[in-house]
Amino acid sequence: MKNIEKLIKSAKQAVKYAYAPYSKFKVGTAILTDKGKIFSGTNIENASYGLTICAERVAIFKAVSEGEKKFKALAIYTNTNDFTYPCGACLQVMAEFSPDLYVILMNGKGELKQFSLSSLLPYSFNKKSLK
Ligand code: THU
Repeated sequence: MKNIEKLIKSAKQAVKYAYAPYSKFKVGTAILTDKGKIFSGTNIENASYGLTICAERVAIFKAVSEGEKKFKALAIYTNTNDFTYPCGACLQVMAEFSPDLYVILMNGKGELKQFSLSSLLPYSFNKKSLK
């Protein structure tokens, strides 16, 4: 699928803008909307460590702040041997908008792994919980 290839490329390119002077762990992400638009994100750290935001949430918040709320897939790239899995906070934010999201991981060797969000976060607190 062309869009998925573009998505992965975009996540890989985004890593160059990661602001990670403390951990030195650079993450690039990109999210694909239902309309085929792509928004990228990087992690942004802070001297006040707890204010750091993950790359996944940056991509999602960029998209939502521009009126996009339906997503098909999110790609996460790190130039490491291991795959980088999204943290619990990011999974929760993904679940808010797209329970059927596909999460694609790419490591520094160019290897890919793909998961459904529901397999990474099988039980979530969500809008239905508030009814
Ligand atoms: N980080 C992400 O951006 N995404 C993840 O999925 C895991 C962790 C960032 C946060 C922090 O800047 C650095 O990686 C080390 O935790």
